[in-house]
Amino acid sequence: MNSPHKLLSNLKALEGPFPKFDYTNVPESPHKLFQEWFQIAIKNGVHEPHSMTLSPINRFGNPDARVLILKDMDEEGWYFASGINSAKGQQLKENPNVTLTFYWSLIGRQVRIRGTASEIGKEQSAKDFLGRGETARAIALIGKQSEVMPSNDDFERSFLENYQLVENNPNLVDPNWCLYQVTACEV
Ligand SMILES: Cc1cc2nc3c(=O)[nH]c(=O)nc-3n(C[C@H](O)[C@H](O)[C@H](O)COP(=O)(O)O)c2cc1C
Repeated sequence: MNSPHKLLSNLKALEGPFPKFDYTNVPESPHKLFQEWFQIAIKNGVHEPHSMTLSPINRFGNPDARVLILKDMDEEGWYFASGINSAKGQQLKENPNVTLTFYWSLIGRQVRIRGTASEIGKEQSAKDFLGRGETARAIALIGKQSEVMPSNDDFERSFLENYQLVENNPNLVDPNWCLYQVTACEV
């Protein structure tokens, strides 16, 4: 078996060819530039270009990170959704400073967004929740994000109960589901 170092030294990175970045024609707004790059990423077949790493600070002052899905973006910011009682939800309550990172390997570009995350309200969170598929709604309703799962059986039982609940109540909203907006101070 090859050593990790040998495996790593055989891997390629940033090989290209990549689409050219026209530095002479950059929009004033980083939000607009992000949207242009996002479309270039999609056009070039980047896998899951809407996957991003959210890095807040935990209560010990240490950076934390996990991958999330970007739900929307506009001139006001970037949006993601999650359970408010999850580890990340609690971190954001204590310290709203975050970084979002995207890496689009097929176009050789990464974007880092530094800013603050804020809850944008019950109405939009409910709309986001109801836009999720039934399975995703049932999983959110289990409400145990970030907690240790006692057993797989417990998870499956809880999932089936919540799936049934969602099927029977198509307008049911998880009160702990939250849509967050990241307002950038630097992109
Ligand atoms: C590709 C991908 C997308 C994900 N999208 C979300 C998301 O949009 N919202 C979410 O709460 N968790 C999402 N997750 C799960 C998170 O990465 C994380 O495991 C979970 O939210 C618990 O995080 P926490 O314990 O740090 O709060 C995603 C995971 C992956 C791999």
